[in-house]
Amino acid sequence: MKTLVLPANLQSTAEKAANIIKIGELVAIPTETVYGLGADGLNPEAVAKIFVAKGRPQDNPLILHVAEAKDIEKFCHSIPAAAYALAEAFWPGPLTMVLPARDTVPKCTTAGLPTVAVRCPDNTVTRQIIRLAGVPIAAPSANLSGKPSTTTADHVLHDHDGKIEAVVDGGPCKIGVESTIVDLTEDRPRLLRPGGITPEQLLEVLGDLVVDKAVTAQIDKDAVVKAPGMKYKHYAPQAEVLIVSGSREKAAAYIRNHFAPGDRVLCFEEELPLYGGCSPLAYGKESDVQTLSAGLFAALRQLDDPNIGTVYARCPVGGGVAYAVQNRLKKAAAFRIIDGEAEV
Ligand code: TXA
Ligand code: MG
Repeated sequence: MKTLVLPANLQSTAEKAANIIKIGELVAIPTETVYGLGADGLNPEAVAKIFVAKGRPQDNPLILHVAEAKDIEKFCHSIPAAAYALAEAFWPGPLTMVLPARDTVPKCTTAGLPTVAVRCPDNTVTRQIIRLAGVPIAAPSANLSGKPSTTTADHVLHDHDGKIEAVVDGGPCKIGVESTIVDLTEDRPRLLRPGGITPEQLLEVLGDLVVDKAVTAQIDKDAVVKAPGMKYKHYAPQAEVLIVSGSREKAAAYIRNHFAPGDRVLCFEEELPLYGGCSPLAYGKESDVQTLSAGLFAALRQLDDPNIGTVYARCPVGGGVAYAVQNRLKKAAAFRIIDGEAEV
C-alpha cells in the first residue's frame, strides 16, 4: 500500500480523508496535541485495524473525536452540567472527557467499558474531515504502542508508511503532548492524564478535582485502573531514561560525573553550554514551557536508538503545562529520578 500524504491546506484533502474513513480504512489526522491514527469510531472492523496497526493492547480504549460539542449527546448519556461547562470553556481544545457511553458506541472503541472518552480537537481540517465523514473519528496517538507520540507527519510515516491509507500533513503540533483527560462519571471529577488544559484551569471551572494515582506513580500492569492506557510502558525510547533533578549546576555536575560514552543528555536550551562533550539534545527552553511540550516527543524519538546507553534528562518544575511535561518524561523514565543535589 502506498501511504498518501495529504497537505492540510489543500481544498481536496478533507474530502479525500473523509472518504477513506467512510470506507473503513485508516487515516492519520493532525490535532493541536499530537497526530492521531483515525478510523470510523462506530465501525468495529475499522476500529480493529487501529489496534493492529499500533500493536495496541485490546483492553486500552480509544478517544472518539467529534466536530461539535453537541455531538457528544449521540454517544454519551447522563451528561452532567460539568461536561457542558468544560466544553464551553475549553472546546475545541486539548481536553478529553470520560462520560457514560450510549449503545451506539461499539465495544471495541470503549474496550468494553461502560464509559467513552470524547474530545473536540482544535484543528480545522480534522473537524472538517469528521463532518464530511458523518461519523466520530476514533483516534489514539499515531505512534506504535509504547513509543513516543507522533507530533509531525514524518513521525507518522516513520511508524506506519505503507501500512495506512493516508496521513493528513498539518505541520508540527502546537501543544505536542496529548490532551488532558478528565473522568466525569464519578461523584468527583478525576484527572486521569494531565495535558494542555492545566489542573488550575480545570479547577476554575469545576471547583473540585481529584488527581488519579496513575498520574503520579508507576502503575502495576495487572492493576485495575481508571485509564487503562496509563499502566502501560509509555513514551519510552530504547535507551534507559533517567531524570536528574536539582539546580542547573548540581545536575550538570552529577551528569558529567556519571556520563559514559554512548550516553546522551536531554536538557533545556539554556543548559547546552554546560554539557560540552556530552552530546546534549535540547527539547525547548526552560523559560518557555510551551516549547518544551512542543519539542519533547520529537526529542524522545531522536533518542530512540539502540546504540544509546543512558539518557540523562532534565525536567521542568511547577504546575500548568509543565505538569504534563513532567508526567510524560517521568513515564518515559519509568519514574526513575535522581536528586542531583544529593548525590554528587
Ligand atoms: O490528544 C489526544 O488525546 C490524542 C489525540 C489524537 O486526540 N489522543 C490520544 O489517544 O492521546 P491515546 O489513545 O494515545 O490515549 C488515550 C488515553 C488512553 O490512556 C486510554 O486508556 C484513555 O485515554 N481512555 C480512553 N477511553 C477511556 C475511558 N472510557 N475511560 C478511561 N480512560 C480512557
Ligand atoms: Mg497514546
